[in-house]
Amino acid sequence: MENYRLRDGLQLPKIGFGTYQLNGNVGVNAMTAALNNGYRLLDTAYNYENEGAVGAALRRSGLNRQEILVTSKLPGRYYQTDDAIKTIQESLYRTGLDYFDLYLLHWPNPKQDQYVEAWQALITAKKFGLIRSIGVCNFLPEHLARLAQETSESPVINQIELHPYFNQQSQRDYDQAHDILTEDWSPLGRASVMLKDPVLQQLAAKYQRNVGQLILRWELQLGTLPIPKSATPSRQRGNLDVFDFEIDAADMATITTLNRADGRTTQQDPATYEEF
Ligand SMILES: NC(=O)c1ccc[n+]([C@@H]2O[C@H](COP(=O)([O-])OP(=O)(O)OC[C@H]3O[C@@H](n4cnc5c(N)ncnc54)[C@H](OP(=O)(O)O)[C@@H]3O)[C@@H](O)[C@H]2O)c1
Repeated sequence: MENYRLRDGLQLPKIGFGTYQLNGNVGVNAMTAALNNGYRLLDTAYNYENEGAVGAALRRSGLNRQEILVTSKLPGRYYQTDDAIKTIQESLYRTGLDYFDLYLLHWPNPKQDQYVEAWQALITAKKFGLIRSIGVCNFLPEHLARLAQETSESPVINQIELHPYFNQQSQRDYDQAHDILTEDWSPLGRASVMLKDPVLQQLAAKYQRNVGQLILRWELQLGTLPIPKSATPSRQRGNLDVFDFEIDAADMATITTLNRADGRTTQQDPATYEEF
C-alpha cells in the first residue's frame, strides 16, 4: 500500500483500520481478518475497551511488531500529567506491546481546559519511548494554535470526522498549512443514509466501484487518511481496493458539493462537546 510520510518521519499506510465496537473474541477475529487482508494500521482508544483484543489480533496474525502500526488515544478523564502517563502505561499493558506508533488526545474538551497539560504528557511519554509519534483528534484551529504557542512540539496528525456529508474543508486547509496530516474518522459516515445518496451511487456506477470505494478514493485524493471499520472480510478487502482508479476533477468537485452544515453523524461539535 502507498504511504504518507509525516513531518516527524513516521510513515503511515494511506488507509488504516478502525476498531471501534470490535471487542472480545468476535473483535479479535475481525481484526485478525483485517491484518490478513492487508491492513497495517489499527486505530483503537483506551475508551473503546478493546486494546487487549487489538494485541491478541496482532499476535494471532503472526506479523512482526515492526510491520504493524498501532494508534491509541488518551481519554479526557486522564488529562492530568500523572494520570496520563499511568494511562499510557496501562494501554500498553492491555495490548501487550512495549510502544505505540501513535498516541492521540481523544478530544480537546475546551471547558475542562486540560489539553495542554495532557499534550505535555504525550511529549514526555514520547521522550521515554512509550510512543513514537504524537497527535490529536477533533482539534479545531484554536486548539492547535494554542499547542503550537505553549509547547515545544506540534501534533503530526489530527483525526477528525470526515466524509462527503461533512468534508471539513476549512479544518483540512488549516491542517495542511501547518503540516498536520488529516485522518478521517467515520470515513463511511457509519454506513448511514449517505451510502444511498443518488449522486454517490451514480458516480460509483460510473467508476464501476461500490459507494464505499468511491468515498474512500475521494478521501485519498483529498490528501487525507481514512480509517474505515468493517467486521466483514469482503468489505475489508473492498475498502483497500481503491488504488487503481482515479476520480476526475469534475467528479471530485461534485462529491464536495454534497457537504452539509449539519452533516455530522453525531452531535459532537468539538467546540462544545466534551468526552471523558
Ligand atoms: N477520534 C474519534 O473521536 C473517533 C470517533 C469515531 C470513530 N473513530 C475511529 O474511526 C473508525 C471508523 O469510524 P466508524 O467505525 O465510526 O465508522 P465507518 O468506518 O464510517 O463505518 C463503519 C460502518 O460501515 C460499514 N461498512 C464498512 N465498509 C462498508 C462498505 N464498503 N459498504 C457498506 N458498509 C460498509 C460497517 O459495517 P460492518 O462492520 O458490518 O461491515 C460499519 O457498520 C472507528 O472504528 C474508530 O477507530 C474515532
